[in-house]
Amino acid sequence: MQNIYASKPYYASITGIGGYVPLNKRTNFDLEELCDTSDEWIVKRTGIKERRILDKEFATSDMAVMAVQNLCTQFDKDLSSVDALIVATSTPDVMMPATANIVAKKLDLDNVWAFDINAACSGFLYALDMGASLVETGRYKNVLVIGADNISAFVDIHDRSTNILFGDGAGVVWLEPSLDNGVIDAYMQSNGNGREFLNIEGGGSLHPDSKGLIDVEKHYIRQDGKVVFKQAIQSMAHACNEVLKRNNLSIDQVDWLVPHQANKRIIDGVGKEIKIEMGRTLSNIEYFGNTIAATIPLCIWENIKLLQKGDLLMLTAFGAGFSWGASLLRWGI
Ligand code: ACO
Repeated sequence: MQNIYASKPYYASITGIGGYVPLNKRTNFDLEELCDTSDEWIVKRTGIKERRILDKEFATSDMAVMAVQNLCTQFDKDLSSVDALIVATSTPDVMMPATANIVAKKLDLDNVWAFDINAACSGFLYALDMGASLVETGRYKNVLVIGADNISAFVDIHDRSTNILFGDGAGVVWLEPSLDNGVIDAYMQSNGNGREFLNIEGGGSLHPDSKGLIDVEKHYIRQDGKVVFKQAIQSMAHACNEVLKRNNLSIDQVDWLVPHQANKRIIDGVGKEIKIEMGRTLSNIEYFGNTIAATIPLCIWENIKLLQKGDLLMLTAFGAGFSWGASLLRWGI
């Protein structure tokens, strides 16, 4: 079996992390007023108590900018050294240009390669692998990888199969070369058969008419929760096991599992499948819900005090597409 960790001349290491969530909370009790649900049911079936909702006059780029500014304050980084900026989002500010261009402009970054990646809840992992690959080429030294989604703009507030799950937020990591720590391996997958089970069908070139969209409610996120639930556990567990196998590692050697925060039962299901020890899975779903591409960086950001330099982290995600994957990295902060 090839040991990928041993074969790299240097790694793309996370040397800074930041996050932002809006102040406005939507609690389970708020949802009880809007549809036929209860705090008890939501907590039991999802582990979520509240989520954050962005004010209507703001957009995804605003949260991304706040997250980057938070990173710079905490880690004393100089933004003018950024070479590339990737935004993982499936809720862009506008169809064109990319949200990354808008974020770069708001941060006064004039000479940066900025682009978006749309892989829904797997977006941050896809973007992390892309950003790490840029650093590993040697052509890019400082790369910002942002996961940001304003999903509340696409949630039907009266649809209890989605309104209980989703919230808004943004997280960001700063990547730079390191001889000791960083992204070791990544296993990314997708399968277009998932489209019918989780989608926002409106707003693209197939259904561009905004008036017609509202009539048929194509602008909302829709899903078959049961199918997504099952696929999510199986796919994330499989991706983690693949990464372990091809790096000759056992799960006992992983210090922390950082799964996409979709549902507490999905998080527990993945942990059980890969047999990670209790207490080694990071989670913050209780207060933020599913923030799509932002869940993983937000979860690490919030739990950073638990991490020691040199810890081995397994990140895993699953989302629309279907898209999924797992990344293995050695923590460098
Ligand atoms: N409040 C109260 N009762 C509800 C609710 C609700 N919000 N939703 C469903 N129910 C009821 C149903 O009517 C049903 O009642 P019945 O037994 O009398 O018929 C019962 O609760 C069970 O309904 P299910 O649809 O089977 O509920 P389930 O346990 O599957 O939970 C949920 C639904 C939470 C959506 C779950 O399927 C899920 O989390 N799926 C994953 C979806 C997901 O994570 N999507 C995000 C994007 S992809 C990703 O991030 C991985």
